[in-house]
Amino acid sequence: MGEWFTASAPGKFVILGEHSVVYGKPAVTLAVDLRMTVAVRRSGWNTMNGERLDFRRQPHLRYLTRDLRHAIDVLTYSEIPVGSGMGSSAALSAAMALAISTMEGDSLSEEEIMLEAYDAEFYAQGNGSPMDASTSVHGGGISINMPEPHGRHLWDVERNGRRWSFNDLSVPEMTFVIGNTGIRAPTGPQVDKVQRYMERNHFAREVIDDIERVTIEGGKALMRRDLVSLGKCMTEDHKLLSILGVSCDALNKLVNASLPYSYGAKLTGSGGGGCMVALTDEPEKVCEAIISRGGTPYVVRTGGPGAMMEPNPPDKTGLKR
Ligand code: MEV
Repeated sequence: MGEWFTASAPGKFVILGEHSVVYGKPAVTLAVDLRMTVAVRRSGWNTMNGERLDFRRQPHLRYLTRDLRHAIDVLTYSEIPVGSGMGSSAALSAAMALAISTMEGDSLSEEEIMLEAYDAEFYAQGNGSPMDASTSVHGGGISINMPEPHGRHLWDVERNGRRWSFNDLSVPEMTFVIGNTGIRAPTGPQVDKVQRYMERNHFAREVIDDIERVTIEGGKALMRRDLVSLGKCMTEDHKLLSILGVSCDALNKLVNASLPYSYGAKLTGSGGGGCMVALTDEPEKVCEAIISRGGTPYVVRTGGPGAMMEPNPPDKTGLKR
């Protein structure tokens, strides 16, 4: 058995632009203070949390371990609700890519770790954008394909004729409340659903263009710290995502319950279940409203750091064994 290598990476939420970003449109995301921690070590057998590692159920791990000449033990511990639109899968790929490359003595750049994590996500579920992987690897705030972005340029990614340009985004202090419906909804099928709609219906393409307009407007409001306009754009984005067919009753209930105490609210991530997010000055009231409709609230701090190595051996990080 080898030495343990432990890394962590943050979850995220999308302020504006999910789904349309898949088609190369703009988006804005923030990393949160909920993290995925992964530890790896060389081993005689492939195991995950003490059980035999089944690569058919973990295709992104199959991708990330493709060049290893030895088996590994993997331990994972997630503070991020899984399958909820908060980027748990990309955070697992990001932390795992960093832990494996460190174990193998490869010193990869942030951009190389991001590409490894994105390729793993692409291998596992196809079709998505590099937004989740970029947010989880870089942390903080990220703007994608925004006209006149404010922050430092991070990287460009091209795939299947689409192009995404990433910039760092420093954001003002804001309080967001996440509401989890508790309904697990993996990203791949939601992205495929929108794609089928786009192929069949010209109207869907118009909705994607409207999401682009609202994202640019809301992104500008965020940069000039105009929370009222940003909130309005978030709520409008939710309506457009509902028209695209990626909301559901449980999400609409949590959004509607939050709105009286919020600047704005919307689903976040791929939808179909998972989480919504509200921008608010009254987090307690939003939390109560979410609980009263059967959801689980989290008040999140934004701007969490990106993927990083953790000094602790796994038994001290609370990892599931
Ligand atoms: C998922 O967090 C966001 C989507 O836009 C998919 C993607 O960008 O890969 C729905």
